[in-house]
Amino acid sequence: MSAIESVLQERRVFPPSEKTSASATISGMDAYKALSAEAERDYEGFWGRLARETLAWKKPFTKVLDESNAPFYKWFEDGELNASYNCIDRHVEAGHGAKNAIVFEADDGAVTNVTYQDLLTRVCRFANALRKRGVKKGDRVVIYLPMSVEGVVAMQACARIGATHSVVFGGFSSKSLNERLVDVGAVALITADEQMRGGKALPLKSIADEALAAGGCEAVKDVIVYRRTGGKVAWTEGRDAWMHEIVENESDTCEPEWVSAEHPLFILYTSGSTGKPKGVQHSTGGLLLWAAQTMKWTFDAKPAEDVFWCTADIGWITGHSYITYGPTAIGATQVMFEGVPTYPNAGRFWDMIAKHKVTIFYTAPTAIRSLIKASEADAKVHPKSYDLSSLRILGTVGEPINPEAWVWYYENVGGARCPVIDTWWQTETGGHMITPLPGATPLVPGSCTLPLPGIMATVVDETGQEVPNGQGGILVVKRPWPSMLRNVWGDPDRYKKSYFPEELGGRLYLAGDGAVRDKETGYFTIMGRIDDVLNVSGHRLGTMEIESALVANPLVAEAAVVGRPDDTTGEAVVAFVVLKRSRPEGDESTKIANELRAWVAKEIGPIAKPKDIRFGENLPKTRSGKIMRRLLRSLAKGEEITQDVSTLENPAILDQLGEAR
Ligand code: WT7
Repeated sequence: MSAIESVLQERRVFPPSEKTSASATISGMDAYKALSAEAERDYEGFWGRLARETLAWKKPFTKVLDESNAPFYKWFEDGELNASYNCIDRHVEAGHGAKNAIVFEADDGAVTNVTYQDLLTRVCRFANALRKRGVKKGDRVVIYLPMSVEGVVAMQACARIGATHSVVFGGFSSKSLNERLVDVGAVALITADEQMRGGKALPLKSIADEALAAGGCEAVKDVIVYRRTGGKVAWTEGRDAWMHEIVENESDTCEPEWVSAEHPLFILYTSGSTGKPKGVQHSTGGLLLWAAQTMKWTFDAKPAEDVFWCTADIGWITGHSYITYGPTAIGATQVMFEGVPTYPNAGRFWDMIAKHKVTIFYTAPTAIRSLIKASEADAKVHPKSYDLSSLRILGTVGEPINPEAWVWYYENVGGARCPVIDTWWQTETGGHMITPLPGATPLVPGSCTLPLPGIMATVVDETGQEVPNGQGGILVVKRPWPSMLRNVWGDPDRYKKSYFPEELGGRLYLAGDGAVRDKETGYFTIMGRIDDVLNVSGHRLGTMEIESALVANPLVAEAAVVGRPDDTTGEAVVAFVVLKRSRPEGDESTKIANELRAWVAKEIGPIAKPKDIRFGENLPKTRSGKIMRRLLRSLAKGEEITQDVSTLENPAILDQLGEAR
């Protein structure tokens, strides 16, 4: 029997780790249980202790948690601190200025080392330049940059002066960027001329110009441009400035703006179940505490010896918590990568791990699955062809990892020496929530195992009652925790309705995922979203967002979007479309399908492009006019239709919609 079969048949349990064991920060299940018990016994005492031990406070807090306006919770509110001081200055002051903060590898393989002292100088200069332009505490700054040291500098510089940043992933369209600039009320935009990915230069500044021209963001007075490629860009005098020019004459020091722990550190947009993305608002103290604490617990990171590498983009929460803030908050060295895992070949990740002697590697199941395929096709790019002996911990995030991919990762990348840490969390949770601990938790492939100490996660039914282990239900968190979102920017009502619904009693945090706990171990297995949110390559997409984009096309009368399981990307987007004119056939339908794909890429971004588009004369609806989504999901999967379709007006459309384009 292969290893994979035995896992599937016996739910094989893997030891926590051969390499970490006794030296782990949380060593053994007893240590885990003791910490969890401490949190149960004295919740505020537990969090207060961590916040005092982990962060440097300018003014200590006197109260840990304020629940008086629940579910709008406040943590450490009268305490004052600065995120960039915590992430940079304190390590320099402790004598670690010469230590590498970031080892940056560009798309073409060029490596730049940035020490903590370099980072401090660059952040201070840029923070001074922002202040000179009138950017001040509480202002919102949108960052639309490629993976770059400049991206981290821009985020940290905003934090230094108390400005709230909102990073928009470089793959989003001008329309998506415009919506975010308007919603967040940005006063400045930081972008680049172009970005380099897989040997190709892709525009950023021209998309930013388009976004600004689309209206509603007249408050944006400054556009600061990082020169990455030197490619040609249009220039608006008086508004646009080169990043390298404006920092030239600035001072190397910059007094941090000391802010309340509750001051918004950033706003990050994420998809929900309506057409409009939510501005997830995070606090300074809580986010920073948990980003730092989980670096120590989940990744067991030891700043003196570890080299950490998170492959996420700074445009997502993973890049915020585990590139910009977490690794720096604990003074670790990290690798940062500009490019893509398949360029110049599919061995790029393994090559970089070997070259930089990475010890902790954190990536997404989608990347693992695509690299499995590539290494089956070509032994040269197989991880076994590289010296990966520096690795001691492997992490995964973003979507459920299938046991096959888990075991492949464990056996081929870690060489069966490193635990695979499957971290369940979300944009809204700010940091890890349910995850094994290296050196403590016995591992079961496909399970994110147990909640971290202090995280009161459980599974309930539709009324908010806890269900017994072994029974599926809704994943919730029973008590507030410091790194949770504080609000949906500008929409407190949506915050309450989305995350603390009255149906569950108004006090349970609703994650939006289904889950089941193992009968014996209590281990959690995540069963995917229970709302209209898709997860494509670990990226969240709202079906409604894609539907609205499609119906905005002049050809389209109606559209419904569902997800379909996909071997590589986890889920794939399938769109069912009714045109205003008659249903297209043959070459014409291929042509229009391609047009619509390009349209969605322009409206939202290439990540939202439907893999399949199916045209029908109509959509299957109930008598009351509701689209039968379950039926569409079956059609998307190519399943036989077992549902009752007797109420359908025109059953022939089922044949039409079964055909992929
Ligand atoms: C959704 C959150 C967490 C940062 C990246 C994605 C899914 C995430 C796991 C995991 C199973 C997972 C959930 C969650 N998800 N990690 N380890 N196992 N599912 O953040 O874009 O906010 O998406 O991703 O469905 O709700 P996000």
